Amino acid sequence: PLEQREYLVGGAMKAWNGNTQAVYSPIYTRTAEGAQQIRIGSYPVVDAPDAMEVLYAAVKAYDNGRGEWPTMSVADRLACMDTFTKKMVQKKAEVVKLLMWEIGKSLADSEKEFDRTVQYIHDTMDELKRIDRENSKFIIEEGIIGQVRRSPLGVVLCMGPFNYPLNETYTMLIPAILMGNVVLFKPPKHGTLLHYPLLEAFKESFPAGVVNTVYGRGNTVIPTLMQSGKIDVLGLIGSSRVASDLKKMHPKTNRLRAILGLDAKNAGIILENADLDLAVKECVLGALSFNGQRCTALKMLWVHESRAEEFLDKLSQAVSHLKLGMPWEKGVNLTPLPEPNKPAYLIECIEDAKLKGARVVNPHGGENYKSIVYPAIVYPVTEGMKVYREEQFGPLIPVATFKSEEEPIQYLIDSQHGQQVSIFGTDPLEIANLVDQLVNQVSRVNINAQCQRGPDMFPFTGRKDSAEGTLSVNDALRSFSIRTIVATKE
Ligand code: G3H
Repeated sequence: PLEQREYLVGGAMKAWNGNTQAVYSPIYTRTAEGAQQIRIGSYPVVDAPDAMEVLYAAVKAYDNGRGEWPTMSVADRLACMDTFTKKMVQKKAEVVKLLMWEIGKSLADSEKEFDRTVQYIHDTMDELKRIDRENSKFIIEEGIIGQVRRSPLGVVLCMGPFNYPLNETYTMLIPAILMGNVVLFKPPKHGTLLHYPLLEAFKESFPAGVVNTVYGRGNTVIPTLMQSGKIDVLGLIGSSRVASDLKKMHPKTNRLRAILGLDAKNAGIILENADLDLAVKECVLGALSFNGQRCTALKMLWVHESRAEEFLDKLSQAVSHLKLGMPWEKGVNLTPLPEPNKPAYLIECIEDAKLKGARVVNPHGGENYKSIVYPAIVYPVTEGMKVYREEQFGPLIPVATFKSEEEPIQYLIDSQHGQQVSIFGTDPLEIANLVDQLVNQVSRVNINAQCQRGPDMFPFTGRKDSAEGTLSVNDALRSFSIRTIVATKE
């Protein structure tokens, strides 16, 4: 087990002798007494005054924009990041192992998460070089010469989600520091230990106080940080409710910038003329990759009523070929769920749908053993069922039928979410018409393809309660900075 007894603050690893939180893996082991959860380590649970000490370390490093880091040249900041990335790569095996044991992510997906994060850092550094070249150009208007600069915003609080605890924390933290901000980050509750092997690399690569960590219970320490009024930017990928509560805690809400990736209920629309083999392949990937625990997952499928039976047969077949197992097993698709309450919630959704007239279409759908839930295809889903609107964030595929395209369009219009949609069809004119209507409802329309965040160059955002600000290699550097102008009369 990894018993973490220190954390990074103000350029030093601070020893911790206070309360700790034990971490149990979602993976069970069989013993003579039955199935037992495995304890894989523990981490510090700091109190509000300790969290404030972390905040003050960041505030001191930023020093109202006059600190070493916010005034450092872009070239020097890039050199620090380069040092960090080289050290990070050496920690791959440790981090990947923790990803598997902490959140049950398969070996292949854990490696992908790590490699994608390293690539993201390289691409973001390249993008910063490009922005910096742009900054060296002048604009002349009405006899005034202007030089646009990108300047930092201040102290950034970053919190990533459990499903991409490394990647999505870093998709905020990396651009934030590259732009000259200072950061304190709180690892997610499930997916905490895996950050520990990288803290030393931060310490050795950046000036004191540029990167700081907050460990412990979010509901104890985060409100204190927000209420202090000293957080300039909230970077959160997580729940819409938490984001809205935290924003309200800031004493001057209009001073707070928020870069948020939040809840979503992305729909797939399978048109009458769709290639069903292709649609099923993409819908299975979209709905069940990492057990459906992705904000971009397909969480509601709308199929034209004339193709419903055929589609359900093929979907059920495809699901039956998925391999359920432990994260390290070769070719595994479905793994244990890290959120302890998730299996009970999914069963509740299935039972609710059954009571209201739906059935589970696929054999074994919804069967549950401890942290494992076998994916369930639930059909026909209608308004009033929990899963019609709620974001299940797990291995449950609700399927509804439509006669007219107006029905799924209206579903999206009425939704409180607005992230993505997938359309499956073969008539280019029909697709083009739908795209024109749907681009005003969501922030990405996928044609004959699942919903997803990548490629990481693409803007990642959403409408309504799904996002605020934009992330991506290209957009995040802009989101975590402000354009300032130096103007001189000719
Ligand atoms: O959980 C939300 C993530 O942003 C999903 O990312 O589409 O690359 O799996 P992904």
